[in-house]
Amino acid sequence: AKVRHYKFDVGYFFKSVDCVDKLVLGINGQFPGPTIRAEAGDTLDIAVTNKLSTEGTSIHWHGIRQIGTPWADGVVSVTQCAITPGETFHYRFKVDKAGTYVYHGHYGMQRSGGLYGLIIVDLPKGQKEPFHYDGELNLLLSDWWHKSIQEQDVGLNSPTESFRWVWEPQSILINGRGQFGCSLGANFINHTLPVCQFKGDEECAPYILSVLPNKTYRLRIASSTSLLSLNLAISNHKMVVVEVDGNYVQPFTVDNIDIYSGESYSVLITTNQNPNQNYWISVSHRDYNVSTTQALTLLNYKSVHASVLPSFPPPMTLPWNDYEGRKAFTKKIVALKGSPQPPKYSQRRVVLLGNQDVLNGYYRWAVNGISLSLPPTPYLGSMKFNLKNAFDWQDPPESFPQDYDIYIPTTYHNATQRNVVYKFQFNQVVDVIIQNSNSYIPNTTSFHPWHLHGHDFWILGYGEGKFKDGDEKLFNLKNPPLKNNLVVFPYGWTAIRFKTDNPGVWSFHCHMEPHFHTGMGVVFAEGVQYVKEIPEEAIACGLTGKMLMNKKIH
Ligand code: C2O
Ligand code: CU
Repeated sequence: AKVRHYKFDVGYFFKSVDCVDKLVLGINGQFPGPTIRAEAGDTLDIAVTNKLSTEGTSIHWHGIRQIGTPWADGVVSVTQCAITPGETFHYRFKVDKAGTYVYHGHYGMQRSGGLYGLIIVDLPKGQKEPFHYDGELNLLLSDWWHKSIQEQDVGLNSPTESFRWVWEPQSILINGRGQFGCSLGANFINHTLPVCQFKGDEECAPYILSVLPNKTYRLRIASSTSLLSLNLAISNHKMVVVEVDGNYVQPFTVDNIDIYSGESYSVLITTNQNPNQNYWISVSHRDYNVSTTQALTLLNYKSVHASVLPSFPPPMTLPWNDYEGRKAFTKKIVALKGSPQPPKYSQRRVVLLGNQDVLNGYYRWAVNGISLSLPPTPYLGSMKFNLKNAFDWQDPPESFPQDYDIYIPTTYHNATQRNVVYKFQFNQVVDVIIQNSNSYIPNTTSFHPWHLHGHDFWILGYGEGKFKDGDEKLFNLKNPPLKNNLVVFPYGWTAIRFKTDNPGVWSFHCHMEPHFHTGMGVVFAEGVQYVKEIPEEAIACGLTGKMLMNKKIH
């Protein structure tokens, strides 16, 4: 195992990512940020310098569990202080498990502004994947707004009368490139856009994937969207899903995959089609009331020139309300035979109801009646040093009121904005049930993709309606997939199980940036007394910052 050093300078620069010149947040002048590549067991040492002139920043390594290094998780107010302009923060942690991951900003709405990249962890030399492939291609998917993240942020956090929703993204990006105002498939799709004309060296020219005929390729696909749920398809090519969120799954074959924000997949494709033409790669969205154009690029058989467009239409965008199709796909994901199995029983169950409400004149998301507001002193330090005034130490509710009707807009308007923490005993088996409910508008609800930091969890099952005692009989304890993201379907619930064996403070939140940013998240803490010495740079702010100064003076 090696130590791999990186230097990341976070900054804004102008770039025409979707053919419209705009500020983008990137790293070392690159957008998306550089791909990190390492072997399982390696240590990454990444010096992140904030080159922004007026904002703090941080980077979260999504899917890396940070075993023994909770201060390197990159969540401002939870595991560290924001990196202030000009400062450098040293992230040093082990990548212990092979797989496909992303990293992204975890402060304000910086992910939405473009602060993200891929992490690919290979097996150590000599170890073999449980599947074969000849080559590898990477796809990082995201959504892109022309409105600045400052405008998005202020719009979301304004009182209801001046509230501005972010609305739909202008483009879907494939490896940081999109085409606004034109489409490669315009000739086939019945809309008013012109066909894009590219020489190939434009900043917004599509990122083309070139392959040799009759080979098997591993496509690593990750989504860091701020909002959209995506669907990816390649014309004429089946995909065999083999990895999800850094864990092997029982291989299954599909024509297209759904991919929610924060998820990552590896699929195998075989280039056994007519080698005298190119094929469409299509990334469309699955969201209600969004009309963002489907992103297109080409799977280019090297026997053909890369710019030759297929003579047939791109894969169709699937309807947003194809709930059954979406559920069927998600439920196909089960663990590869021989994967670690979940403990048979849990010792604690927390049921979390996410809903939207008006709170003190603002639209906010709440979980069990509490809208998360992050404290100025990061939890990790204040819990470790028992700082009683750093946040609200009261225990949040384990569930929501029995008689809550999940099918109507919220009726109990007593949500509050707080910064409480779910405190778990160390080494306990915990079940968390995420309960979906109606949003602020009658007869509407959305899918929410949730992400847990510091852990993988088993997805034990999905159910319709309100979770009730006895529903645990429906749990799959035989081959539940290990993941770090889950999706909760409209008016349904999703159950996960994990062991609280990683000392630290971990966020668990909806991965849609505007939802998390307005309160849709919770904080879990476990075994904080076992956290080893926290680097000073992680806690040199708020009350822990004062504590450090006092120590130095006396
Ligand atoms: Cu990828 Cu807390 O998120
Ligand atoms: Cu959400």
